[in-house]
Amino acid sequence: MKVLVIGGGGREHALAWKLAQGERVQTVYVAPGNGGTAVDPRLKNVPLTDPVQLADFCQAEKVALTVVGPEVPLAAGVVDVFRARGLRVFGPTQAAAQLESSKAYAKEFMQRHGIPTALYATFTEAAAAHAHVDKHGVPIVIKADGLAAGKGVVVAMTAEEAHSAIDHMLTAVGERVVIEEFMAGEEASFIVLCDGRSVLTLATSQDHKRVGEGDTGPNTGGMGAYSPAPVVTPNVHAKVMHEIIQPTIAGMAKDGVPFTGFLYAGLMIDAQGQPRTVEFNCRLGDPEAQVILMRLKSDLFEVLMRATDPAGPGLDGLELQWDRRTALGVVVAAHGYPAAPRKGDVITGVPAGTADLQVFHAGTELVDGVLKSNGGRVLCVTALGDSARLAQQRALDAVRQVQMDGAHWRTDIGHRAIKH
Ligand code: AMP
Ligand code: GLY
Repeated sequence: MKVLVIGGGGREHALAWKLAQGERVQTVYVAPGNGGTAVDPRLKNVPLTDPVQLADFCQAEKVALTVVGPEVPLAAGVVDVFRARGLRVFGPTQAAAQLESSKAYAKEFMQRHGIPTALYATFTEAAAAHAHVDKHGVPIVIKADGLAAGKGVVVAMTAEEAHSAIDHMLTAVGERVVIEEFMAGEEASFIVLCDGRSVLTLATSQDHKRVGEGDTGPNTGGMGAYSPAPVVTPNVHAKVMHEIIQPTIAGMAKDGVPFTGFLYAGLMIDAQGQPRTVEFNCRLGDPEAQVILMRLKSDLFEVLMRATDPAGPGLDGLELQWDRRTALGVVVAAHGYPAAPRKGDVITGVPAGTADLQVFHAGTELVDGVLKSNGGRVLCVTALGDSARLAQQRALDAVRQVQMDGAHWRTDIGHRAIKH
């Protein structure tokens, strides 16, 4: 059978790599893909991004299943286009994707359904937003409404930062800002598969959003990740399912927008082990997907076929098998990332994959047979190990073999898991 993965980042390379291992899978197309999916003999890049052209391609090629990686095509309604043609696709509809694409929608939804999250207020007028900050003080969190690729959030430690974030977001980013109570604690990524009714939990994970060692410097899309996240103890896990995931799935169904696809709850877990929702994403995380899929033993294709079969039992009664080891991924970033990533640097020395090491490509392209950088996050070097420390060592040993001008990476990915 043929499968299509929409997207071209590290998450999509990992999805395609995993789907290609399916018993019944012959070909995995990746649209548009990257330099890594271009060289893998089991994968084929397709130079398309337009939803209608992608649907035409799937009809012509008799593609059995499409999996959507990034949020942008989901928010643009690619799932709705595919479903209208009777094509099987795993992802949320445009309406359900608002859980990620509109912070205001997500916050209002959580409040209405009693899902624990930070207190918030929404503003379109700068003066009222400034007054709100003056009244509540700092730390306080300012968020632009809409997709902002991780750059739409400022955790303001001073009043000055908060006021300037409001002005910036209301003039340069969007028409609305959400101002939130600051939550203290440790973050984790909690991702589940949904068929609209039932859920199947994936392994827990944690990413590192700051560019620098010790979680310092500007926010990025993620400089590395690991799975499992020890902060999600069995007790925390049960609370997340009971207080966040189940009410969300039930609430979406009740609101008439059943959620299908990957649902990603970004959690803040306080010192007492009480989880609250920082945000929802309607997709797998990147680089969380790379570490989660590295540990998944079950046949992902068969699981997603079940999840997208309206006539079947859905995900009910399924259980996923996981590698017990820790998976840890280190992102190799381009010179200037995240502010102004440079493109076009030649990349050599990328280690070959083994049973416990995979290099997932993100911002790479193959130009006349030469691998070059083509984005901020270039590679995610992902390793399995019997402990977080061993997985980290294996990943870093492989990272050091990569040659690319201006490359930078963090050497402390997984430091919280190593401490635990
Ligand atoms: P978001 O795009 O909503 O995930 O926010 C990006 C990052 O900002 C999160 O991963 C958190 O580290 C931080 N953040 C967002 N909202 C809050 C909050 N209410 N309290 C504390 N930190 C937050
Ligand atoms: N790594 C965070 C995200 O994918 O949103």
